[in-house]
Amino acid sequence: MADVSHRVTAYAGGAKYEVLIGRAILADALRREEVGSYERVAVIASARVYDLHREYLEESLGALGGRSCLILMDDRELNKSYAAAGRFLDQFIEIGMNRKSAVIGVGGGVVGDFAGYCAGVYMRGIPIIHVSTTLLAMVDSSIGGKVAVNLSVGKNIVGLFHQPSLVVSDTRFLDTLPDIEFRNGLTEALKHGLIGERKTLRMLERNDMDSIKHEDRILGLVARSVSFKSKIVQRDERERDVRAILNFGHTVGHAIESFMEYRGVSHGGAVATGIQVMVGISRRLGLISGADADRANRIIASYGLMLEKQACDLDGVIKHMEYDKKNFGDSAKFVLLKGLGNPIINQRIPLNMLREVMAEVIC
Ligand code: NAD
Ligand code: GLY
Repeated sequence: MADVSHRVTAYAGGAKYEVLIGRAILADALRREEVGSYERVAVIASARVYDLHREYLEESLGALGGRSCLILMDDRELNKSYAAAGRFLDQFIEIGMNRKSAVIGVGGGVVGDFAGYCAGVYMRGIPIIHVSTTLLAMVDSSIGGKVAVNLSVGKNIVGLFHQPSLVVSDTRFLDTLPDIEFRNGLTEALKHGLIGERKTLRMLERNDMDSIKHEDRILGLVARSVSFKSKIVQRDERERDVRAILNFGHTVGHAIESFMEYRGVSHGGAVATGIQVMVGISRRLGLISGADADRANRIIASYGLMLEKQACDLDGVIKHMEYDKKNFGDSAKFVLLKGLGNPIINQRIPLNMLREVMAEVIC
C-alpha cells in the first residue's frame, strides 16, 4: 500500500474534486467511496500504457471488482476524433453504461481529452476520472475540465467543459515515459513558472534533466502546477479573462505545429519556441529586463526544450496563427510578460515585430 504524497482540492464550475499525486497510488484511489458508488465503469486506457504496465493496471483495476469494462485506445492524436468518439459511445451502450456509470481515462492528454469528451456528452454527462500517465497530463491537461476531440479541419474543435470527479497522478507510470514526452510536460511546467508559479521557476533553475527526475522533485513539480492551474481555473473556468494566461506561448506554438502538419515537431518543442518568441517580444517592448529574458532562455536551453533552428517560412507559420485567432489585421493579440511571473493578456503586437523576433528565435 502506498501513500498519497500531495493532495490538492480543486474547485471549478461550482463543484470540487481531489487531485491525488503519489507513487503506486492507483489501486487505493480506486477504492475510494465515490468510485464505489458507480454501477458500471468504462475504463478507456492507452493501449501503449496497457502494454507497458499490464500487471500493475490489472491489479489496480481489480479494485473496481466486476463493475469495470476495459476499452483499449490507440492513442495517436489522429484517433482523438469525433468519428472515433461515436464508436466509443456505441460501445458504452453495448456494455450497459447508464446515468449511474462513470468513465476512467488512463493515459496522457489524448486519452484524457477523448475519454473526458465521451463522458461529457454521454447521457448529457456522466463522471470522468483522469488517471494521468504522462507528465504533461499530470501538470496540465487533467486539470481544468477542457475536454475535446478533433475534426479533420483542426484540433479540439468539438468540446466542452467537463470537470473531473477525481484525478490520479501516479508517478509509477512515468518510469516508462520517453524523454521527448517528459520534455513536453516540463515545457508546460515552465510555462506555469513564467506566468506566476515562481517556485517552479527556481526549481527548474536549480536542477537539470537528470536531477529533476528525482521522485520527490517530480511529485513537488506536479503538485505546484496542479495547485497553480486549478486556482486560475477556479477564478475563470470558461476562459473569459485570466485563464487566457495559460495560453502563453501557445499561439505561436500551435501555428508551428499546424504549419508542420504535426510531423517531426513535438508539442513541447513548438510551445517552448513560442515562449521564447513571447519573451523576446516582451523584452523588445521593454516589459522585461535583459536579465529576466536571459533567465527564461537559459532554462529552456538547459533542458533542451526548444526546436532546432531551421530554415523556415515565417509567413507560412504566421498564416496558421490567423486561422487560430481570426483577429489579425496588421497586429494580433498575445499573452506577454511584464516581468517574470506577471503575464498580461490581450496585448497587440505589430506583425512586423512578431516576424522579426520569430526570425531571431526560429530561423
Ligand atoms: P499523449 O497523450 O499523446 O501521449 C504521448 C505519447 O506517450 C503517446 O504515444 C502515449 O501512448 C505515450 N504514453 C503515455 N503514457 C506513457 C507512459 N507512462 N509510458 C510510455 N509512454 C506513454 O501526449 P500528452 O502530451 O500527454 O497529451 C497531448 C494531448 O493533450 C493533445 O491532444 C493536446 O491537445 C491535449 N492537451 C489538453 C489540454 C487540456 O487542458 N485539456 C492541455 C494540454 C494538452
Ligand atoms: N491548457 C490551457 C487551459 O487549460 O486553459
